Amino acid sequence: MSIITDVTRMFLTRTTKPFSFKNEYDRTLPYEECDNLGLYIHIPFCKSICSFCPYCKVKYSKELCDAYVDSLLKEIHLVAGGKEKKTATSLYFGGGTPALAADRLKEIIDTVSLYFDITEGIGVELHPDNVTPCVLQVLKDAGVTKISIGIQSFQKKFQSILGRNTVDIDALRQALAAVPFETVSMDFIFALPSQTFEDLKSDIDAAFANGANHVAIYPFIDFTFTSSKVSALPKKEKRALLDAITNYCLEKGYARDSIWTFSSEKQAHYSSMTRDNFLGFGCSATTLLKEQFKINTFSVEEYCKRIEQKELPTSLTTRFTLRQRMIYYLFWTAYSTRVRAEDFEKFFGVPLKKMYGFELKIAKLAGFVTEDNGVFSMTPKGAFYYHYYENFYTLAYIDKMWGIMRKEAFPEGIDL
Ligand SMILES: C[S@@+](CC[C@H](N)C(=O)[O-])C[C@H]1O[C@@H](n2cnc3c(N)ncnc32)[C@H](O)[C@@H]1O
Ligand code: SF4
Repeated sequence: MSIITDVTRMFLTRTTKPFSFKNEYDRTLPYEECDNLGLYIHIPFCKSICSFCPYCKVKYSKELCDAYVDSLLKEIHLVAGGKEKKTATSLYFGGGTPALAADRLKEIIDTVSLYFDITEGIGVELHPDNVTPCVLQVLKDAGVTKISIGIQSFQKKFQSILGRNTVDIDALRQALAAVPFETVSMDFIFALPSQTFEDLKSDIDAAFANGANHVAIYPFIDFTFTSSKVSALPKKEKRALLDAITNYCLEKGYARDSIWTFSSEKQAHYSSMTRDNFLGFGCSATTLLKEQFKINTFSVEEYCKRIEQKELPTSLTTRFTLRQRMIYYLFWTAYSTRVRAEDFEKFFGVPLKKMYGFELKIAKLAGFVTEDNGVFSMTPKGAFYYHYYENFYTLAYIDKMWGIMRKEAFPEGIDL
């Protein structure tokens, strides 16, 4: 499995050097010069734990959650204190289940706003159980403009495969109508055993008919360290399903605003990933800057301890070579299905074609991308292979890293 990602990485970065993560951390994060900076905050608590889920989370208790949020506020002050106020594109809360800290969200947003002007809104991931008029109003009053609801599937069959409860679709629609948001996104998982185009189509139709203006359709990933027994559909069936659902969404006039998201309204966007640079706060949160990528510890206890010592809770840091940073840039930008040569040149000070002209030529010949005036757009075939490669990447890199970090708060180092 990792041979594919190793060879691709070596070819694209022109070195046999792996991405080497070391147990080291900087006391200050040099984000002041970064344009297009996104912010992410992780709230790692859930009422019950889903067997298929790889994210960093622990069972919720009010006491632990409050202690965690106290540390989170301190981490924001540690990172941004004493620096000039900075523009940030967006702030996303992910988890876990961030709404379990709904009563503290305003306090967190107010603290972030001391240091950052957020220009494109604030998003929060929700569990369907959180979608009540009361919780939604608390979020709205705190300044939240976008929500993303983890539906997974509206159908009993898949809910039981995933071990999730049924979603009360009428209550969901009524709550969403009572408290509107600029973006209401719903998450679905595809490529589950025996899932058909009709199954997915009916989920997407139900989403748009019941308050969503945006959907995310994630391919199911069978992480090695989860206890889930569910295995994903084979490649051929997965491709047919992805092509059929993409064509369906495009025929309906929904805009594809990233590799796996579609929106029915122009203003609807939900993506915490497609940023040139981002700062992450909280357990497991990652930070991507011009020359480094770092990841916070996964342990809530060790996170709070580090913050108590007035130190950043970084577990691992990697420092990029220029080519490695370019690959990171292209990989994350490609999520939006478009790469602009002009933006690349602005970021790196060197033309995209000079660095990756050969690869782009091959990608065009293979029918993966088209070029129009310096904008490279992914074709449906390209999008499938991106999905396919991303699956390898997730299993070779993320699975390995998260598997270790769930067990060790501060590992010695990891080579990917
Ligand atoms: C943090 S959860 C969303 C919010 C909330 N905790 C919930 O479960 O409803 C983020 C999303 O990741 C996706 N996800 C989780 N595990 C996955 C897996 N193994 N493969 C693909 N997608 C997954 C799900 O669609 C889920 O809604
Ligand atoms: S899918 Fe959501 S609710 Fe389930 S464990 Fe993961 S973060 Fe928690």
